[in-house]
Amino acid sequence: MTNLLVTGGAGFIGSNFVQYTVKHKPEYHVTVIDKLTYAGNRANLESVNDRIEFIEGDICNAELMDRLVAKNDIIVHFAAESHNDNSLRNPWPFVETNIVGTYTILEAVRKYDKRLHHISTDEVFGDLELDDPNRFTESTPYNPSSPYSSTKASSDMLVRAWMRSFGVKATISNCSNNYGPYQHIEKFIPRQITNILSGIKPKLYGTGEQVRDWIHVDDHNAAVHIILEKGTLGETYIIGADNDHVNNKMVIEQICELMGKGKDWYEHVNDRPGHDQRYAMDSSKLRRELGWQPRYTDNQTGMHDGLLQTIDWYRTHEDWWRPQKEAVEAAYAKQGQ
Ligand code: NAD
Ligand code: TYD
Repeated sequence: MTNLLVTGGAGFIGSNFVQYTVKHKPEYHVTVIDKLTYAGNRANLESVNDRIEFIEGDICNAELMDRLVAKNDIIVHFAAESHNDNSLRNPWPFVETNIVGTYTILEAVRKYDKRLHHISTDEVFGDLELDDPNRFTESTPYNPSSPYSSTKASSDMLVRAWMRSFGVKATISNCSNNYGPYQHIEKFIPRQITNILSGIKPKLYGTGEQVRDWIHVDDHNAAVHIILEKGTLGETYIIGADNDHVNNKMVIEQICELMGKGKDWYEHVNDRPGHDQRYAMDSSKLRRELGWQPRYTDNQTGMHDGLLQTIDWYRTHEDWWRPQKEAVEAAYAKQGQ
């Protein structure tokens, strides 16, 4: 058995990763460390409770991380403050968890010579103009725009420095926007699905021309496993599903249609300050060198089946999201969103 420590395993991508691992990778014994912030939910791991160990704790706690890292062989680091809009309201938790937390993990990994995989985002590269046909690659210079993306960029830089200066055995992946079950309803896609389920019109920031290179969470997590198995230490891998022709307006229209509303049953609200325009990922290195490819790649938006599955999940898990809905919408309403 390989002992695998998953940080942030009660959040959206982390909990999907843990479920995926328990289902498809029996060679791992999984321990989750999660602070259970507003974004973490113990219920996300209910289906695998008897197969994993769960520790409620903070990745900034050096003594705790020292103890946990010592006991494990591989650390997959998802824990982060992850929402741009929150980082504009209060940046401090982002600095603390994303930078100090990653530093704390790196020091423990260095001490015990363990293998680390650091999960990061395309947002570290900043954004592209809407008409820019280029895509981000592993060598695109960092140019983050928000407190969220700048703290993620800082965490990537720390991992790179610890690899080079101390020989830490690590890999990094930068992935585009994920969607799927268990995503917090403050995020774009689940917010709109749960709006429609609540009789509220979906809310599109500004004109909705912005592009996120959407990927289904299972495709992201399959890529992380391939990197763990076949990736080269010291390397960075871009993960993306070639959805960079799909803008926010198209996504919201597709959700409206799939949920039986007219295509235009949504409203425009205030734009996000400093809104990143376009993200586009070139994942050819991952595909070529490690043989990964996304499974959710149907029709012209590449999201039809994934959105249907996600809508169905929110429809059948109202107990999971309903308690938070009012507070999330009230916070957005204050900003005219
Ligand atoms: P999330 O906000 O849903 O989950 C984050 C989890 O981390 C939560 O369970 C939370 O309780 C936990 N956490 C926060 N601070 C902690 C701390 N100090 N100690 C321990 N646990 C703590 O986030 P997500 O969307 O699942 O993102 C996971 C990772 O993937 C992040 O590193 C994020 O930057 C990255 N990422 C996300 C996306 C996306 O579209 N969501 C895309 C690319 C990369
Ligand atoms: P989000 O899910 O917050 O992810 P990120 O900021 O990491 O890209 O937002 C995705 C896109 O959707 C982004 O361009 C902002 C936009 N958006 C809306 O149009 N309406 C909304 O209600 C939200 C939350 C986001």
